Amino acid sequence: MLRATAVLYDSLAASEGVGQTTRVDVMNAELRAPNTPADWAAYHAIRRRVLFELRGRGSTYDAEHPDEHRPHHHPFLLWVGAEAVGVIRIDLNRDVAVFRRVAVREDMQRRGYGRQLLELAIQFAEQQRCTRIESHVDADAVGFYLRCGFARTEGTTRQGAAVLMVRSLR
Ligand SMILES: CC(C)(COP(=O)(O)OP(=O)(O)OC[C@H]1O[C@@H](n2cnc3c(N)ncnc32)[C@H](O)[C@@H]1OP(=O)(O)O)[C@@H](O)C(=O)NCCC(=O)NCCS
Repeated sequence: MLRATAVLYDSLAASEGVGQTTRVDVMNAELRAPNTPADWAAYHAIRRRVLFELRGRGSTYDAEHPDEHRPHHHPFLLWVGAEAVGVIRIDLNRDVAVFRRVAVREDMQRRGYGRQLLELAIQFAEQQRCTRIESHVDADAVGFYLRCGFARTEGTTRQGAAVLMVRSLR
């Protein structure tokens, strides 16, 4: 069982003049922005497989979508050793961090990596001085978010079939 006990930040100055974390380590798991073509291939492969193909929407995945490269959007891969295990994109909107497209590789699910991915993403959001996290999640992932300390919003705001889950910071 992996446990989030040791944290190491590697902060780089962002082009916008705000501190930007591009690397967060917990034990041997690390959340890292895709950098090389191989990183991007791993990032898109996990998203395409877990979030599109396994949901019957494989042909609609667009690896060239501009949302991955917008200034306040932060794609990350979760690495465990040399293995890319999961993905998340964190979109910053003032003091709100929106967790987008969270996915753990199908052969690595239910081993604690999803929880680690969210914990590291929360640390990134805290370092960006966010006060709230939002995530529009599929109904079958609500239980996971609840287990990770998120709450279902009052009255449940819905975007299509998605449920808005929130977590306050600080
Ligand atoms: C949802 C997902 C990210 C969870 O990742 P994971 O690595 O399997 O989750 P973990 O093993 O870290 O589980 C953490 C906790 O959540 C629970 N959990 C995980 N998936 C769950 C689910 N679908 N429903 C209810 N609880 C769930 C686990 O039992 C565990 O609980 P515990 O700590 O009390 O034992 C992963 O299953 C996935 O990629 N699913 C497909 C894509 C998806 O649904 N993404 C969510 C955004 S829409």
